[in-house]
Amino acid sequence: PSGGTLKLAVIPGDGIGQEVTAEALKVLEVAAPADVKFETTRYDLGAERYLATGEVLPDSVLAEIREHDAILLGAVGGKPNDPNLPPGILERGLLLRLRFELDHYVNLRPSRIFPGVVSPLANPGDVDFVVVREGTEGPYTGNGGALRVGTPHEIATEVSVNTAFGVERVVRDAFSRAQRRPRQKLTLVHKTNVLVNAGAVWWRLTQEVAREFPEVTVDYMHVDAAMIFMTTDPSRFDVIVTDNLFGDIITDLAAAITGGIGLAASGNVNPDRTTPSMFEPVHGSAPDIAGQQKADPTAAILSVSLLLDHLGHTEAAAVVEAAVIADLAERDVATTRRTAEVGDAIAARVGG
Ligand code: NAI
Ligand code: MG
Repeated sequence: PSGGTLKLAVIPGDGIGQEVTAEALKVLEVAAPADVKFETTRYDLGAERYLATGEVLPDSVLAEIREHDAILLGAVGGKPNDPNLPPGILERGLLLRLRFELDHYVNLRPSRIFPGVVSPLANPGDVDFVVVREGTEGPYTGNGGALRVGTPHEIATEVSVNTAFGVERVVRDAFSRAQRRPRQKLTLVHKTNVLVNAGAVWWRLTQEVAREFPEVTVDYMHVDAAMIFMTTDPSRFDVIVTDNLFGDIITDLAAAITGGIGLAASGNVNPDRTTPSMFEPVHGSAPDIAGQQKADPTAAILSVSLLLDHLGHTEAAAVVEAAVIADLAERDVATTRRTAEVGDAIAARVGG
């Protein structure tokens, strides 16, 4: 891509979100190609704003964010069990709303065990896979309701939505990612033996789209069996494609086996590029360590690498990833560095 100005919406959010985003921006600054300028606009959204003003995501703010080329998010969320912050307000009103309104139908979570990183698995092998989680459908659409709440006759439904359109587009994206990777393997993870209606759509469209990608080997696994293999033989996976709920759970396990929440990066991607895609660490606002410079900013920095890659700056993306890999390889478990020290060290490697 040619140079010029790219407009970046930055939502640092709450708690450590603010601390790790500062480091991510530090790295972006030195990583951006010389002819590319990132013009950042900061949006203060999250628990702090909601508690102060009652606003979650005003329509006017969403409209402004939509005009950007990409979004960088830290994390949002307040203190546990705050009676002034009911569950779901930020998840549904901010995070899911951004994903749905901006049609982020690919939730991308690369999972690698980088050299020097200790996995809780004794013999993980060479782990390098990516989960392509559907981001706009499944049981997360709010298609449900409750009746007779609080009585013994309470009824609660969360109906999983699976459209042929929605499944086909995410499956095609996963195939095209598999095609570009060395092993060219795709694993569909579902529960087709029990969720027969949704399962039939996922199964059929995977077989159909597979014909467009003859180089890609296709595998299928039930989600429960996939969890066994993810702990006993995670190196067997290359690209996993799965629905919204399964993907949410699988990616937490993937983060755990690849060295933990401080390293897990993600992208909420609109591959059609009709809206800005959003990049964020998988972790939350970590109120237990917020404001103490204890957070590891690596996941946020790796999210910047995903952001650069999505915007077509593949070389800059690779430089950021290489700087993180080099930093990880030399980490000394006996010394703890402050959040800003980790950011400085990685930024120095990128710049140098
Ligand atoms: P969390 O990810 O914030 O924290 C879980 C544990 O991991 C804590 O002990 C924390 O100190 C530690 N941790 C997290 N990130 C770390 C980092 N970069 N470096 C070192 N340690 C780290 O998850 P939790 O506690 O369930 O949620 C806290 C708040 O964050 C809640 O309000 C939750 O709703 C919100 N949240 C927001 C997300 C987002 O904005 N996308 C994602 C997950 C949670
Ligand atoms: Mg999750």
